[in-house]
Amino acid sequence: MAEEELIPGITGLGIYLPERILTNFDLERMVDTSDEWIRERTGIRERRLAAPEESTSDLAVNAAREALGAAGLLPEEIELIIVATATPDMLFPATACLVQERLGAKRAAAFDLGAGCSGFVYGLATAAQFIRAGCYRNILVIGAETLSKITNWKDRNTCVLLGDGAGAAILQPVEPPRGVLAVYLRADGSGGDLLKVPAGGSRLPTSIETVQAGLHYLTMNGREVFKFAVRAMEEAALEVLRRAGISQQEVGCFIPHQANIRIIDALAKRLSLPPEKVVINVDRYGNTSAASIPIALYEAVSEGKIKRGESLVVMVAFGAGLTWGALALQY
Ligand code: ACO
Repeated sequence: MAEEELIPGITGLGIYLPERILTNFDLERMVDTSDEWIRERTGIRERRLAAPEESTSDLAVNAAREALGAAGLLPEEIELIIVATATPDMLFPATACLVQERLGAKRAAAFDLGAGCSGFVYGLATAAQFIRAGCYRNILVIGAETLSKITNWKDRNTCVLLGDGAGAAILQPVEPPRGVLAVYLRADGSGGDLLKVPAGGSRLPTSIETVQAGLHYLTMNGREVFKFAVRAMEEAALEVLRRAGISQQEVGCFIPHQANIRIIDALAKRLSLPPEKVVINVDRYGNTSAASIPIALYEAVSEGKIKRGESLVVMVAFGAGLTWGALALQY
């Protein structure tokens, strides 16, 4: 155990977004949908798609390199790499190990974390405990997804919602008042069927039949997920504020998982958060799952909405599992 109290904080951020943009108008030519429907029901205008040869680890490595540069850290100084993803390069080895090798992070432990769209918040919370416990001082947490690779491009219920991207954060001990103030993580596996990829695992190994039935694609009960999302994120936000001992009015910047503008608006209303404090980029990237919060965080910092040492930031997520959670920090 370390003698001093170590407070984990974010010291560097990076993102990577694939070049290709798929607009709602492009989707109009692929499935029976319209730009108007997608904008009104989801707030999404366009999303990024990885190139055929680009995988989740490629996106992750690019985001990680920028985060390392921002923190002034060399790859060999990283002690732990956590990759939160629902779209790993392969079932195994872990995508985190592929990232470790590509970065040249020779001293690092590495593992993947599966918590769906809540993965980045779960990852930050996990990394924070390693720092508090005195195990590691330099941790790389990445949320990276290529959801386009598990999307059924003939299913209008899901294909309009998703996008690809990656975001990375370096966690290190920081000086108060900076640092992670509180975390709150939850799961409810009884809702697992609402959002899943049925085949390709040990329950339903890939076969000609599973592929013909399209069971290797993401499936979703959108309406039920919507109801759960608003409820769960409100609970997580309120609980993390309670644990951190801060009021809703004190929150400087609120970063919800970017799944649907209506979910975000309903949540902001329930929490009485003014629009200028709520980060929204779902219009440009769609739902990038575990990458959504780090990308939004990065953009909020770049745009000056979050200032180092000043801003109280609350991130809140929900996702497949079902999982949900929140993290409060003084950036
Ligand atoms: N274009 C046109 N019509 C569509 C489309 C589309 N892309 N998709 C669905 N519709 C139709 C439906 O078929 C339905 O038609 P019907 O009434 O004739 O059956 C109608 O639109 C309304 O469908 P609803 O499901 O009631 O639409 P809703 O307003 O609930 O919006 C949505 C659907 C956008 C999916 C919403 O429920 C939602 O955002 N849910 C949460 C999704 C989410 O966040 N998922 C988690 C992330 S995925 C992951 O974890 C990787």
